[in-house]
Amino acid sequence: MYIEKIKLENFRNYEKEEIEFDKNVNIIYGDNAQGKTNILESIFVCSLGKSFRTNKDKELINKEKDFSKIEMISQKEDRKVNIKFEIKEKKKFYINDIPSKKTSEIIGKNYIVLFTPEDIGIINNEPSKRRRFLNIMISQLRPLYINLLSEYNKTLEQRNIYLKQIKYEGKPIQNLEIWDEQIAKLGLKIYEYRKEFIEKINKKIYDIHLNTTNNKEQIRIKYISNIGKNYLENLQKNKNNDIQKGYTSVGIHRDDFEIYINENPVSIYGSQGQKRTTIISLKLAESNVIYEEIGERPVILLDDFMSELDKKRIQGLFENIKENQVIITCTDSFKINNSKYKLYKVTNAKIECI
Ligand SMILES: Nc1ncnc2c1ncn2[C@@H]1O[C@H](COP(=O)(O)OP(=O)(O)OP(=O)(O)O)[C@@H](O)[C@H]1O
Ligand SMILES: [Mg+2]
Repeated sequence: MYIEKIKLENFRNYEKEEIEFDKNVNIIYGDNAQGKTNILESIFVCSLGKSFRTNKDKELINKEKDFSKIEMISQKEDRKVNIKFEIKEKKKFYINDIPSKKTSEIIGKNYIVLFTPEDIGIINNEPSKRRRFLNIMISQLRPLYINLLSEYNKTLEQRNIYLKQIKYEGKPIQNLEIWDEQIAKLGLKIYEYRKEFIEKINKKIYDIHLNTTNNKEQIRIKYISNIGKNYLENLQKNKNNDIQKGYTSVGIHRDDFEIYINENPVSIYGSQGQKRTTIISLKLAESNVIYEEIGERPVILLDDFMSELDKKRIQGLFENIKENQVIITCTDSFKINNSKYKLYKVTNAKIECI
């Protein structure tokens, strides 16, 4: 699939702008703070229903204005998709002009894989960053997943409240079972999805990584779950502990994964360069999993990614995404310039096609 056009109104620093993309490689360049990442963010919002930079939708509205709109038109194998996003007091989405009831309905209408310099946090930061990576990938491909996740979180919150009520208000312990059964039902499904998708990633990432490292590095991802598939049993085993603590200590909300290179965890032993290459392999694997699942290549968004890579790595990356639509932002286009690529210059929220 590819994105044909995006129209922005009062989005971030933009007032009214339109940008038409090429099916292949698009390079958006300009000085710092001109509006390059904002373009990728608008595509992300229309694909996943929220920003990758903020949870506060209001921040997306131009500071001088009181509403914001985005329209994104994309072309899939057999049809066009039109997504409209509007935000005033609340946010609203339209899919092919039909209002969508839930934000989650947007997910899976367009497929994207975003690369940003912050992705290194998937390796370096806390487990929530890794769960987020999994959640984004899985929810694009399994529309039910996002609903399961939000149901799970709601039920978890209720269980945690009840745990405290047992401890402080003497509520009956046996009623906890009502929450346990529900949590176990939802949690087990999420566990199975994550397990399945980590396996899918493993199948793709091994060869990708071996290739980019001249057959030197064998990569493997290991799913870390503190509950496993005997969900209800393990949840209930921890009951007394949970009552003492006042929260649920085991479950998919504590999931994690570790990436190993030649049997060593990258987070501990990886060099900066190895970590960066690992992230690229991970995202490329994600892109390949999407292709395998739906038969469409996702749009690759590369935010300021080139500055981090040497020429050889850039070439290797491009080799892997040559069949995808690619939208790149950078401050300096020379490193990757090619007469076949479509170039745009952004200056203070004005886009000029070069
Ligand atoms: N709600 C908003 N209203 C008006 N301007 C905003 C809003 N949100 C962000 N901006 C401004 O938009 C400008 C461009 O942001 P953007 O992140 O797109 O920059 P960039 O071109 O990617 O720069 P860099 O090269 O530094 O990454 C910034 O100056 C930022 O302050
Ligand atoms: Mg930027």
